[in-house]
Amino acid sequence: MVEEVPRAGPPKGLDASGGRGGGRRGAPALDFVALRGESAGPPRLNTGIAELDRVCGGGLVPGSTILVGGDPGIGKSTILLQAAASLAARGSDAAYITGEEAIDQIRLRAERLGVAGSPVRLAAASSVRDIIAALDDRSAPDLVVIDSIQTMYLDTLDSAPGTVSQVRGAAQELIALAKRRGLIVVLVGHVTKEGLIAGPRVLEHMVDTVLYFEGERGHQFRILRAVKNRYGATDEIGVFEMSDKGLVEVPNPSALFLADRAPADGAGGEETAGRTAGAAVFAGIEGTRPVLVEIQALVAPSLLGTPRRAVVGWDSTRLAMITAVLDARCGLAVGANDIYLNIAGGLRIVEPAADLAVAAALISALNETPVPAEIVVFGEIGLSGRVRPVAHTEARLKEAAKLGFTEAWVPAPSRGRAAGRGRAGDGLRTAPIGHLAELVARLGPAPRRRPIPAGAQRLVVAP
Ligand code: TYD
Ligand code: MG
Repeated sequence: MVEEVPRAGPPKGLDASGGRGGGRRGAPALDFVALRGESAGPPRLNTGIAELDRVCGGGLVPGSTILVGGDPGIGKSTILLQAAASLAARGSDAAYITGEEAIDQIRLRAERLGVAGSPVRLAAASSVRDIIAALDDRSAPDLVVIDSIQTMYLDTLDSAPGTVSQVRGAAQELIALAKRRGLIVVLVGHVTKEGLIAGPRVLEHMVDTVLYFEGERGHQFRILRAVKNRYGATDEIGVFEMSDKGLVEVPNPSALFLADRAPADGAGGEETAGRTAGAAVFAGIEGTRPVLVEIQALVAPSLLGTPRRAVVGWDSTRLAMITAVLDARCGLAVGANDIYLNIAGGLRIVEPAADLAVAAALISALNETPVPAEIVVFGEIGLSGRVRPVAHTEARLKEAAKLGFTEAWVPAPSRGRAAGRGRAGDGLRTAPIGHLAELVARLGPAPRRRPIPAGAQRLVVAP
């Protein structure tokens, strides 16, 4: 029996009485607890696709909701069908609910991916009421993929599927289901062309994990990037390659991103002696992993009043800043030219550490001086032209050494530390750069004419 104390009167201002204590003085309204507690770290479910698990922070957490966003046709359905099949094959109960495609289409895809034998529960549905009625009991699966949230609708709302209120309402119900039953709900969200209005953005704050699937449609690489994760680090990426048998993991992306480069010295004779100018290898960090990638630049005299800028894979405001610094602090005339900048392999770089590599590619393109093939570059550039140190230097140098690079152009250490050319642990020479002007000097203009080899005949044209 619990004694019930009647309230003294309607609550006017908040005072110490009230809340759950029911007015009894001294009874706490909230039970504060310590940070350390009995609840162990959440047990995680591994999909068996290592790149996906890593992006999710080391596996999927039961009771959580994951949003996978991306352009239509990028491969969201493919990767999630692979993940569901892999989980089912490992003994978990996985379900795949499609609101976009017919059962036959999914079956065909499963056949093509070689996972048709996997015990995934497959259904075509778009009514959230039906889905919840089917899953909200003891037989709830461990994981359910909803493909896509834009096709789902709640019959309690009047608006059409795909509108903001439907997308939000449907997601809310499914998230509640995930929490209630402790199952993992994966929502597919198409990035819509019309400014992301009813796209995955409206769900980002509601779900636990947001992954975006990126990549150029014409390229075979696909990058899964965590932009929000309540159970792990963000900015982690997983790299995949689209093949005829679905998405294949790429455990060593650097080797892949650099695969298309001209072969290193000696391998191609005359061709490599004249390495093309305008390319520099950036030693970057994506999440917790170092990734080497080639940055390509083309600088051409502009025929227009306003020079053209075309940037793929990098921030165009950042490029404008670097051209301005090159012009104002180093006396180069880059800014008046058309500039094309491209990150090879379809990767999108967000690190400011790429500044120095971009500058190297630009200077190299302008001066027609190739950056030597065995060199990696990284460092942030300030508006004064000073090159500023960046984090994870060791990891960057290690990865570069592993891939056969022998020298790194790096930011000069901040005052107080020893400066000068040095040797990192792995036999990689480091050549510090303190100011952008030093980089310009290092990549000075190449002699315009090739020297005429001894013994060669000169062609004389008679008038
Ligand atoms: P899909 O997963 O349907 O994209 P989304 O669900 O994000 O809209 O991927 C479709 C594309 O992937 C399609 O253009 C064909 C390509 N693809 C392959 O190249 N190989 C494969 O094995 C599969 C299944 C798809
Ligand atoms: Mg799809």
